[in-house]
This record gives sequence, C-alpha cells and structure tokens, in this order.
Amino acid sequence: MIVSKSYNELSSTVADMVETQIKEHSPSKLGLPTGSTPLGMYEELVNRKLDWSNTITFNLDVYLMNINHPESYQSYMRKNLFDRTNIYPNHYHFPFRPFSAFEDKIAGSMGIDLCILGIGTNGHIAFNEPGSSFQSRTRVVELSEQTIKDNSRFFDSIDEVPTQAITMGLGTIMEAKKIILMARGQSKLNILNVAMNGEVTEDVPASILQNHDNVEVLYCE
Ligand code: F6R
Repeated sequence: MIVSKSYNELSSTVADMVETQIKEHSPSKLGLPTGSTPLGMYEELVNRKLDWSNTITFNLDVYLMNINHPESYQSYMRKNLFDRTNIYPNHYHFPFRPFSAFEDKIAGSMGIDLCILGIGTNGHIAFNEPGSSFQSRTRVVELSEQTIKDNSRFFDSIDEVPTQAITMGLGTIMEAKKIILMARGQSKLNILNVAMNGEVTEDVPASILQNHDNVEVLYCE
C-alpha cells in the first residue's frame, strides 16, 4: 500500500498513472469511479489538459434514478470530467441495458486497461455490496443500509438517496488489466486492512483484489 502524505499527493499520484496510461496506449480503456475520493484526481486530470480523444471510459456504476438529477453519476462525470475534456461523447459509457450488451462493449474494446476504484466502509467496490458473488457481472443491486447512510451526505435527506443501482460485477472488474484502489480517511483504514490482509471472502467484496496480480492501493488520511 502506498501511503500519500496528503490528499493532493494521492490525487496527483493517481492522475500520473492515468496520464501515463492514456499517453502511452492508444486507445486506452479506463474504468472510472465516482464518490468523494476521486474528485481531486479528476480536478488534477482536467488541469493537465490532456488529449482524451483516444480514450474510452466505462463507469463502474450508476444509481437507478433520474439521470438529470445533480447527484446522478452521469451528472457527476459530466461536471467533473467529461464536459471539461475533449473526450468524445460516444467514447464514455455508463452501465446500460441490456447488461450483456454493456459487458460486450467492454469485451469488444479488448477490455479495461486501467480500472480505478474507491472502497465503501463496508468493503464494497463499485456497488458490489457484501455477499456479492465473485463471479458477478453487470446487474441491478440493492444498496446496503450502510451505503445509503454513507452516501446521504450528498443529498438533502437520507430519504432521497436511491436504494438501487446498476453496477459492474466483481467478475467484470477483475478482468481489468490493472487496478488502482484509492482510499481516503481514517474511516477506511480498518476495512482496507481487512480487505487486503484478511480472508478472501464474498463478505468483503474488496478482498477479491488479493486474487488480482496487478493492483495498487493508495491511501491518505
Ligand atoms: C462509486 C463507487 C463506490 C465508491 C465508494 C467510496 O462509483 O464505485 O464504490 O468508490 O462508495 O465512495 P467515497 O469515495 O465517496 O468514499
């Protein structure tokens, strides 16, 4: 695990990895997260004014909600990255139906080169909540009480937090060639330790990453 001295350092270290990927490989296919942790990385990437014309992206997950709501993950991505770069609108993808077509789209692009993940306080990656099958593919999921509580900070009240989402599966994520897991804050330390050093179990979805041979974990307080 790489421990960064600050959130800025964490954000720019991951931005460096993304920059290297998209400069050295054309096309590059990225798996992208939302949430609070990657905001600094997106800001850093936007400020670097990179050429995104040969980059294809697949978001990990979306809430099942009106996509025009300011807290939808589609709005988040447009606001924090897509509308601020020269990425082609037909090059970015959110999980869509039929899910087999979304999976085919990833496979048809020869797979994700670099997948960036955050981690939930309950060990979820994307929205694969505890108990998700290690073989799971893109599907609709019920969000756990913990996730709804954690994400209520983005909404006016907890009742507004969507209770369902579409997420890439753990099987889908594990096919990425390289994975970076970003985590920030004391509240993530315990689950990170359990996921990276404990038993590999479906009760802790992120523990599946122990079975991937190209994972980097970056943490800052
Ligand atoms: C969101 C996602 C989630 C978040 C996780 C951590 O696209 O995939 O797994 O990465 O819930 O969220 P933050 O960064 O807000 O703590």
